[in-house]
Parts: sequence; C-alpha cells; structure tokens
Amino acid sequence: MSKEIRKSSNVVWTESHVAESQRRDHLAQKPLTLWFTGLSGAGKTTLGFQLEKALLETGKLAFVLDGDNVRHGLNRDLGFSSIDRSENIRRVAEVAKLMNQAGLIVIVSLISPFAEDRSMARHIIGSEYFREVYISTPLEVCEIRDPKGLYSRARAGEITGFTGVSSPYEAPSCPDVSLDTSTMSVESCISKLIRVIG
Ligand code: ADX
Repeated sequence: MSKEIRKSSNVVWTESHVAESQRRDHLAQKPLTLWFTGLSGAGKTTLGFQLEKALLETGKLAFVLDGDNVRHGLNRDLGFSSIDRSENIRRVAEVAKLMNQAGLIVIVSLISPFAEDRSMARHIIGSEYFREVYISTPLEVCEIRDPKGLYSRARAGEITGFTGVSSPYEAPSCPDVSLDTSTMSVESCISKLIRVIG
C-alpha cells in the first residue's frame, strides 16, 4: 500500500452549528487528551483503562486509544519502521482531536518513542488540549515484567527494531506528568492523573 500522502483537493470545510461551549456544558467536562508515552510494559495500557474507568465513575466521559488496539483496525496496515510509527501517531492524534471536538476526554497510550512525533501530536491536537504523560518505568523493570514475552523474543533476535532493545526511545524532556509504575501504585498514579484533569 502506498504511503504517499495525497492531499484532498476540491473539498470545503463546513462549520458545525454546535459550539464547543455547548458540548462542554452538555457533558459538564473540559475535553483533553492525555498522551501516555513510555516503553512497552511500562504500564500505559493498565493505567489508561483504569483511568478511563475511574473517570466514568465520577461522571466524566473518557475513551482510551491504545496502540495495540488501534493496530487491530484503523492502523492495521502499519508496522514499526520510523515512518510507520510516525503515521500511527499522526492518525491517532487526528482521531484524538476529533474526539476532543466531540467533547470527550481522550487517553492515548502509544509508545510514541520519538520526540518529533509527539510534538507533531501536540501540534495536531493543540497545546490547550494536550498533556504529555511520561510513564517512566525503567527498561529493566519492563523487561522483567515482559507481559507479552516480546522482550525475550527481541533479545533472541526474533523481533527486529524493538523499542528499548534494538530501536531507540527518546524520553520526554519536559512532560506534564511523570509516573514510574515500579515505585508508585496504580491508585496513586490514577489520583495524580485525576488532579491533572481537574
Ligand atoms: S508506536 O511506537 O508506534 O507508538 P504502539 O504503541 O502503537 O507503538 O505499539 C506498541 C506495541 O506493539 C507494543 O506494546 C508491542 O505489544 C507491539 N510491538 C510489536 N513489535 C514491536 C516493536 N518492534 N517495537 C515496539 N513494540 C512492538
């Protein structure tokens, strides 16, 4: 499949008749995207779905866009080259933006290893709505956890370009929140995230 980007021509934007403030009032929440970045096994998915549940329980509507899940459908044509990871992030950022426009709180959990791609996501979503959450659990811990057995397969050379083993991870330099799940409980991570959402 061609990765060429063909910009649509002869298309015209139509503005909605529903204002963002009306959606905010209707849902009684401010839309936001919490962008979780970190190594495989760091805890992004666990925290993302726990946070989604905790928010629902307090009456806030949230939705998780999880890397593995999104790669089952929307991004099933993408692999793990840097070009494909970048496209993965671009598409998820565009979906998060639409969900924010619909009034939802979006929790994205993607390794998103490259700073440049995360900054593209911030640009697409808009700084006002974007919060970078660094799940900073160290590689050694992720590798011991190895929930999907992928680190041992990567070390054995069965998976190439595996983040943290044979492909780099660029840690955020100035994240809005940093959570290390090897030293913090899930509950304390969730409390911290709920404070960020406000
Ligand atoms: S990202 O780099 O493009 O942001 P994403 O979060 O969507 O990655 O997908 C990561 C998940 O894909 C991992 O949790 C793991 O289950 C799986 N995976 C398979 N191959 C790789 C690889 N080479 N590097 C990282 N993760 C991989």
